[in-house]
This record gives sequence, C-alpha cells and structure tokens, in this order.
Amino acid sequence: MTMTEAIGGISQAGEPLQGSVGIWPHDPVPVDVQTAADAALLSSQLSVMQHRLFCPTSKRILRTFSSGEAARLIGVSDGYLRQLSLSGDGPQPSNISQTGRRAYTLEDVNALRVHLAGQGGGKARHYLPRRNPRAGEQLQVLAVTNFKSGSGKTTTATHLAQYMALQGYRVLAIDLDPQATMSALLGYQPELGLNANASVYGAFRYDAERVPLASVILETYFPGLDLSPSSLELQEFEHATPRNMALSYAGKKSLVDELFFSRVRAAIDTVAEDYDVVILDCPPQLGFLTLSALCAATAVIVTVHPQMQEVVAMSQFLSMIADLLSVVREAGGELNFSFLRYLITQYEPNDGLQTQVAAFLRAQFGERVLTAPMVKSAAISDAGLTKQTLYEVGRESLSRVTYDRAMESLTAVNAEIEGLIKAAWSRADR
Ligand SMILES: Nc1ncnc2c1ncn2[C@@H]1O[C@H](COP(=O)(O)OP(=O)(O)OP(=O)(O)O)[C@@H](O)[C@H]1O
Ligand SMILES: [Mg+2]
Repeated sequence: MTMTEAIGGISQAGEPLQGSVGIWPHDPVPVDVQTAADAALLSSQLSVMQHRLFCPTSKRILRTFSSGEAARLIGVSDGYLRQLSLSGDGPQPSNISQTGRRAYTLEDVNALRVHLAGQGGGKARHYLPRRNPRAGEQLQVLAVTNFKSGSGKTTTATHLAQYMALQGYRVLAIDLDPQATMSALLGYQPELGLNANASVYGAFRYDAERVPLASVILETYFPGLDLSPSSLELQEFEHATPRNMALSYAGKKSLVDELFFSRVRAAIDTVAEDYDVVILDCPPQLGFLTLSALCAATAVIVTVHPQMQEVVAMSQFLSMIADLLSVVREAGGELNFSFLRYLITQYEPNDGLQTQVAAFLRAQFGERVLTAPMVKSAAISDAGLTKQTLYEVGRESLSRVTYDRAMESLTAVNAEIEGLIKAAWSRADR
C-alpha cells in the first residue's frame, strides 16, 4: 500500500474528525488546546496508518551475504569457508540453494566467528574483535557532531555503527537528535509507533518518570547493533536542563544529583558491559544534547562538507565548543578524548573548489583530518530516500559502478575509524 492510499483510507474511514475542536484561528479555542488536540488526533491516526502501511508481522530483515562476502567478513578464504560447510564442521549457512550456492545471514557469520575463535590457535581476536575489559580495553563512545545541518552526521554515524556490527563488535547507536533520522535509518519511525517515554529521553529526563537506559534500547534488523531511539520528546532535554540547573543554583533541592554533563555518560555506564562501541548521533545545534554527548564521548568525529562557508561555520562551532567545554571542565567534568578527527563528507573530487578547501583543512589540521574522505554518491542519497543505508540495500539494487565506488569510500572511512578505536585499545593489529 502506498502512503497516499494509506492516508486516503483514513480520511474515508471518517475517524479523524472526532477529535477536532475547531478551525484555528477563527475559532475561540485557545491555541494550546487546539494544538494538543491536533497532536492527539494525528498521533492516533498515524498509528492506524502505520498498521496499514507496515504489516505488524513484517519486520525489516538484513539481506544475506554470499559465501565470498561472508569469508571476507570473517577473515578467512572463500575456499576455507566452503570446506567448513562441506565438512559440516561448525555452524552452517542458513540457506544452501539446489545448485549449492550458500547464503549467510549476519547471525551465521557471527556464529562462525565464535566457533573459529573458540578453536584456539591464538587467532581468537582476529575472528572475534570484541574488546577485552580485563586487558583494559574501555568502552569507546564516539560522538559524531557539527552544528551545520546536513553535514553528514547521521549518514556517517549510522554507516559506522553498521560497519562495526558487521566486523563483529557489539554496538549501541544512540540517536540524540530529536529529528530521529538515525532511528528511521535503523528501522524505527518514532512518529509511527514509539510510545511516550520509549525514546532515549526516558533515560535522561529529570523527573520521576526516568527509566534505565536498558529499557529504551531496541534490537535493530542488524544483528549486533542495538539502538536507543530518539523522538521529538528528546527536545525537552534542552528545556528541562536549564530549569534543573536553575533549581540547583537557587539552592533548592534539585531533582537529580548529577549535573547535566555527566548525565548521558552515567546512563551509558549502566549498559557499558554489553557493548564495545557506542555511537552518538548529535543534533545540528550546540545545545545541551550536543554538549552532553561531547562530555560522554571518548572520541569525536566532526563531519565537514568541504565548502568555504561550512568551514567558517565549523570554526565558530569549534570556538563555541571550546568555551563551553572549558566551563564544564571547571565545574569538574572530565574531558579526555582518545581522538578527535575531521571527516570530509559528500566530497566531489572533480570540484576544484572542494579540493582546495579539503587541501586547506589538511594543511591546517594535518593528521587530524581522516585520510579517507566520504565521497558524494547517489548510492548513499538514493538509499537514504527509502530510509536505508548502503549496507542494507545491497549491490544488486543499484548501479554496480556507483555502488562499488560508494562502498569503497565508506569502507576506507570506517576502517580508518576502526583503526583509531583499536589504537585507543592499544592493539597492535590496526
Ligand atoms: N556521501 C554522501 N553522498 C550523497 N548524499 C549524502 C552523503 N552523505 C549524506 N548525504 C545526504 O545528505 C543529506 C544530509 O545528510 P545527513 O542526514 O547525514 O546530515 P546531518 O548532518 O545528519 O543532517 P542534520 O544536521 O539535519 O541532522 C541526506 O539526505 C543524506 O542522504
Ligand atoms: Mg542528522
């Protein structure tokens, strides 16, 4: 069913008019009453629409991987994987066609990783790269930020989260943007189904409704990647935080003990042992959500589209961050990043001005600009139109040349960031 048909179906049902309280602005109904009624009306009707558009039993499922793809993910040769399958040794692929073609789910790949890692021989980490807390490998919390809207934060954060899950890490993506774009890319549209207090805001709120972070974490269609989704209610954090701070400063009993800057980190700490990497997608503004993300982060990626006006905006952003973070530090906040890198996004190598700006950034920041840029590609934007990532869509659904070029760039960027994470864990195999 198309969106138009779904909407049409609702209006024909005659249900929407029941909650209406008047025709604003001519009606003397107060605006707050009218908007609250409209919100309730839309919310109930969107649930109906969701039911019609998305069959409740149909779930987004990650595609399967060919034998060659699975072998590359695990880090073995295709021949060895075939041999494992033929000998019946260890977990088997979910699908073997009549012609003998094997298709592996990511669960199959992960089961094989565990199997191979358990065979000893000193290659356990090669197959299963999860962090080892006993060796001092701390949870890595990466904030992807920049206050410039559209600089590629969500695209970077979501693809990085999926890449890390594909490599076998346990990943938690936290959507800190009330626009909830990352949540949608990972299969959740809050406006079409999240109940109140089911978003990550539930874990940050300052009132008695607060819930543990674990209760607002959802599994995604990507095995190994969980999501704490956002919704518009997260915007309330920007208002509730100064209200709560004012209470503290006035000497009145604050509703919570922690200051805002330790709040996101405190929530993450409660689930730390379940994950190797946490990816935070920040909103396009320097408010309390972004500041909290920076205070929770062990590493930061600043996305920058190489255009002069974007670099000017980034310069202001950095200067404002510096001012605000120095206040946080004076108030006792801990700010230790294992790395901060600039990532050039939506890069068009044939655009002379862009190459100049990229060269300028590299000249200024040296190795703090990631070597690999993320190229601009129709493969990424087309996938985004249907709220999908490049890892989800697969090669067959796009022009192969376009797909391969985008995937090559994406892999180079993500592998470089994975290398920095491994370096933060002091691993030699980076
Ligand atoms: N490498 C790319 N190639 C082509 N399109 C891209 C690429 N990266 C991002 N886009 C597109 O640019 C738009 C903005 O990207 P994205 O949502 O990642 O930016 P953002 O910084 O998160 O935006 P916001 O500040 O609104 O949260 C999206 O439509 C996305 O599909
Ligand atoms: Mg975004």
